[in-house]
Order: sequence, then C-alpha cells, then structure tokens
Amino acid sequence: MLSLSGGYWWSNRLSLRWRKTSLLACWLSFCAAESLIACPSLCKCNSGTLEVDCSGLGLSSIPLDIPTNTRTFLFLNNQLSILPEQTFSNFSALQRLDLSNNFLDQLPENIFRDLVNLTELQLRNNSIRSLDKDLLQNTVLLRQLDLSINGLAQIPSGIFDDLPSLRWLSLRSNRLQNLDRVTFEPLVSLRQLQVGDNPWECDCNLRDFKYWMEWFSYRGGKIDQLACTLPKELRGKDMRMVPMEMFNYCSQLEDENSSTVLDNIGPPCSKGAPTAPKPKTTTPEAEEDPSVGCPQKQRYRPVSVRRAIGTVIIAGVVCGIVCIMMVVAAAYGCIYASLMAKYHRELKKRQPLMGDTEGEHEEQKQISSVA
Ligand SMILES: *[C@@H]1O[C@H](CO)[C@@H](O)[C@H](O)[C@H]1NC(C)=O
Ligand SMILES: *[C@@H]1O[C@H](CO)[C@@H](O)[C@H](O)[C@H]1NC(C)=O
Ligand SMILES: *[C@@H]1O[C@H](CO)[C@@H](O)[C@H](O)[C@H]1NC(C)=O
Ligand SMILES: *[C@@H]1O[C@H](CO)[C@@H](O)[C@H](O)[C@H]1NC(C)=O
Repeated sequence: MLSLSGGYWWSNRLSLRWRKTSLLACWLSFCAAESLIACPSLCKCNSGTLEVDCSGLGLSSIPLDIPTNTRTFLFLNNQLSILPEQTFSNFSALQRLDLSNNFLDQLPENIFRDLVNLTELQLRNNSIRSLDKDLLQNTVLLRQLDLSINGLAQIPSGIFDDLPSLRWLSLRSNRLQNLDRVTFEPLVSLRQLQVGDNPWECDCNLRDFKYWMEWFSYRGGKIDQLACTLPKELRGKDMRMVPMEMFNYCSQLEDENSSTVLDNIGPPCSKGAPTAPKPKTTTPEAEEDPSVGCPQKQRYRPVSVRRAIGTVIIAGVVCGIVCIMMVVAAAYGCIYASLMAKYHRELKKRQPLMGDTEGEHEEQKQISSVA
C-alpha cells in the first residue's frame, strides 16, 4: 500500500517534471520559430548581432516583417525608389542603415525621425536631388554619413545642426557648385570630409567655405581635393591651394551690391496696404513718396550709398563754384576787353580828328592860298 502510494507519488512527480520540461522545450522551440518567422523571407538574419541583410535581391520595397530590435539593416543593391514615411518608425534600436546602390530620389522629411540610436547612414549611389533641412534632426548619435554619388545640387543650411557626433561625411560625386560655411560649422566632431568630383564654382560664393576649410584643416580635419570647374582661370585648380588674395575683390563687390541684397532681404512691398513706418526710421524721402508703398527700403540704405550721394553733392557744389568762377572770369574778361576796345576806339577817333583838323586847316590854308 505504502509502496503503491509511494510509486504513485513518484510517477506523479515524474510526469510533472516531464510536463515542465516539455513546456520549456515547447517555449524554446516557439521562440526559435518566432525568431525564424521574424526574419523576412530571402533576407539573411544574424540573431547574435541583430543584423538583417536584404542586399541584392532586386527588391523595390522594404519588407514589412523586419524585427523591430534590428541593430543593422542592410538593403544594398536593390531597386528601392520610394520610401514610405513610416518605414523606419518602429526601429529605434537601429544603429546601422545602408541603402546604397538603390534608386531613391526623394526622402520624406520624417523618414529617420525615430532612429535615435543611428550611428551610420549610407545613402551612397542613389538619385537623391534634394534633402530636407530637418531630415537628420533626431539622429543625434550619427557618426558616419555617406551621401556620395547622388544628384545633390545644394546642401540646405541647418541640415547638420543636430549632428554633433558626426566624424565622417561624404558629399563626393554630386552636383554641388558651392557650399555654405554656416552649414558645416555645427559639425564639431568632423574629422574627414569628402567633397571631390563636384562642379565647384570657385567664386565669391565659395570664399567663406574656403575660410572654413582652412580652419578645419588647421584643427586636424582631413578634406579631399576640391577642384574648381569655374571660373576658367581656376579650372582644375585645387581650391585649397588658391591663395586667399584671389578673393579680395569679393568684399569690394559685396560693398557695391549690399544695397540691392539688403533690399531683397527686407519685407516684401505691398502696394495695396502700405505699412506705417516707425517714426524713428522715417526719412524725408519716405514721406515724400508714399504712393510707392515701400518706405522700408530707405531704411536699409547702407553707408556706402550715403557716402556716394555725399560725394556727388560735394562734387556738384565744387563744379558749380568753378563754373560760376569761370563765368565771372569770362564776363570780367569780356567787359575788360570791350572797355579797352572802346577806349582804343575813342583814342583812335580823337587822334585822327586832331590830325584831320590840322590837315583841314592846311587844306583850308592851301585852298585859301590858292584862292
Ligand atoms: C509600429 O508599432 C506600432 C505599435 O507598437 C504599430 O501600431 C504600428 O503599426 C507599427 N508601425 C509599423 C510601420 O510597423
Ligand atoms: C539605444 O542604445 C542604447 C545603448 O546602445 C540602449 O540602451 C537603448 O535602449 C537604445 N534605444 C532604443 C530606443 O533602442
Ligand atoms: C550604382 O548603382 C547602380 C544600380 O544599383 C549600379 O549599377 C552601379 O554600378 C552603381 N555604381 C557605383 C559606382 O557603385
Ligand atoms: C553683384 O551683383 C551682380 C549683378 O547684380 C552679380 O552678378 C554679382 O554676382 C554680385 N556680386 C556679389 C558679390 O554679390
């Protein structure tokens, strides 16, 4: 009886243990199955490094069943041309994203918004023609950004404002003609910048960027060759080697242009509703011509223009004085000449008269003697 009950207890315990282990095995196999299911078909997944590789499959869209804990997502050599705005919205664990060698031409403004852990972004060899200024505002940990071999004609200023960790940046092989210094100033950790193979226009618009390049190099940064395409005199020359003196004429030009530039910056003119100018800044010119509706423009008249106007006025006054003096001198000369002429005429008139009277007298004498 005892043994029986003991055996029962033993078997009961055994079955319990069996059930437990089978449950565990079942749970384990379920997990394995789940992780297998989580890897998109055709893609290769590495559960250790949390890497998903969907490269070279001719895909035109990103699979929807990518595990959300993925750290590395490789999608090179596919046919991706459109990225829906929500594509990466659940991938905040992503650290490396490679979309190189696709056909992307437009990136939605919010596409990388949730990738707060992203450190490496590869967009090499796509057809991206423009970037939104807020594209990278949340990827604050980004260290490497490759935008080479695209169709970028300009880099919007402000796009790098939130990338204090960026160390490596490539803009090689795009359509850039110039860059703005202020765009690059927030990149305080940048060590290497690639800008080669772009149609650089080495004119005044690139001067400030050259200043930045010099400061960047001085700080130990590495920058590849920036070969000028225009102007003709500088074609093929490396902008880093062009002496700064070549750009001295720019400040002169800026001085001349500043009036028009500042007018453009000023508020737009509305002829219908002329805004009341502040009394402090009201100028006589503005009051004289209220019909134009742009009294603000006068406010922005720069010093150089005012100086030019002053010069013109002074020149006019000097000219006027000289003219008046010349007229006075001419008049004086004329009067003097006419007076002298008159005097001479009178002198002449008197002399021959005296001579004539003598002659007449002689004649009269002769006549009288003849008579
Ligand atoms: C992201 O996750 C949320 C819930 O966590 C879900 O509702 C949403 O559909 C997911 N979005 C994508 C694009 O997978
Ligand atoms: C980002 O990475 C850190 C450490 O690598 C991790 O602790 C954190 O959970 C990650 N954030 C997200 C949203 O996955
Ligand atoms: C760029 O991508 C295209 C298409 O994916 C490929 O054929 C070409 O070889 C790539 N070019 C470079 C320089 O990687
Ligand atoms: C000055 O203005 C001219 C014509 O308006 C323009 O071609 C030139 O690029 C300007 N120069 C600068 C330095 O802004």
